[in-house]
Amino acid sequence: MFKINVNNKEHSVSCTSDRILLDVLREDLRLTGTKRGCDIGVCGTCTVLIDGKVRRACKVKIGDVAEGKVLTIEGLSQV
Ligand code: FES
Repeated sequence: MFKINVNNKEHSVSCTSDRILLDVLREDLRLTGTKRGCDIGVCGTCTVLIDGKVRRACKVKIGDVAEGKVLTIEGLSQV
């Protein structure tokens, strides 16, 4: 079980540490504003901010962001 902060809201996600952040956002949290494109870190359609830094969600494992804050396009629209 991982706790993850997305758009200033805490979520608990039951998965292994190597699950890809993009899958968690789209499939578990239903935040489909983060898009799947190339799935290899090139196109940028899956871009999110993690602790204020631009990252490709298709290349980030959930275990690497468990302590961080993720901001998606849905979160940006609330700012
Ligand atoms: S899906 Fe293309 S960079 Fe992530």
